[in-house]
Amino acid sequence: MPDTFAGQDFTTIRDKSREELEYIMDEARGMEKYTKVGTDSASGRLMGTLFFEPSTRTRLSFQAAMKRLGGDTIGFSSKEGTSVKKGETLADTLRTVEQYVDILVMRHPSEGSAKLAAELLDIPVINGGDGSANHPTQTLLDLYTIREELGEIDGKTITLAGDLRYSRTTRSLSRALTGFDVELILNSPEQLRMKDDLLLELEEEGLKPEEMSDLEASMQKADLVYATRIQKERFPDVSEYRKVANAYRIDRELLERCNNPLLLHPLPRVNEIDPDVDELDNTVFFDQAGNGVPVRMALISNLLNLSDR
Ligand code: CP
Repeated sequence: MPDTFAGQDFTTIRDKSREELEYIMDEARGMEKYTKVGTDSASGRLMGTLFFEPSTRTRLSFQAAMKRLGGDTIGFSSKEGTSVKKGETLADTLRTVEQYVDILVMRHPSEGSAKLAAELLDIPVINGGDGSANHPTQTLLDLYTIREELGEIDGKTITLAGDLRYSRTTRSLSRALTGFDVELILNSPEQLRMKDDLLLELEEEGLKPEEMSDLEASMQKADLVYATRIQKERFPDVSEYRKVANAYRIDRELLERCNNPLLLHPLPRVNEIDPDVDELDNTVFFDQAGNGVPVRMALISNLLNLSDR
């Protein structure tokens, strides 16, 4: 049994090879049969889910994944009700929870917080999102969804649209795509362009994105469009957010004019995608959210080196 990440942490996509990502995706495919009936390979194991920021999909799909594997979870969904409110440091909170669980998932507003947790703790730490920096397990399920829907990732033209400055999902996804043979197009309001450090990093890895200011033109060229929410909570000044809050909207007519590319979105959406498109065959964002369960089951199994994988 290969043990790709056994005992390791999963805090960034940057240090993962294409082969490792594909291995987890293959394992996720094998987990599909357990996503409704469950298995008992994680029986007796506990996962801590420490969410210092709001989440629906990441927290609940990790909990579902652990429970479908036969394990259990403890945790919190905000710092309210924890001793952080009494002034306890993040480090002390982490060291304490480590006494109770076998593996930890954390979402925290501070960039680098997951790395800090990984350095501090001996148990595997999974990054469920640290500020605008990383969301590596979202990337796993995004890649899995693309592969399931389009057959393969290589050869595809992918447009990332929306908030490319503050979105951690597009940051992690674009890094992962450097391992594949893809064309990458970026479309965003000028204020929300992808940061230069990431553009440089992508270029160093051999992926030179094309930046296009016209949404429709950028979608015309795409096999798939990955849309993102404008990340209101990351703006230092809410007046700056208001200037771009309604910067773009994808509706049925636009998709049809663009030959109906596959449309992904990490969710939650606000008003950038018209609900009128939800029933179209090429809009797969709820299936994408569902893919979080087998993918996270595969990752947990791998990190805990569970049998019956
Ligand atoms: N995609 C995602 O991270 O969703 P949540 O914020 O609901 O977890």
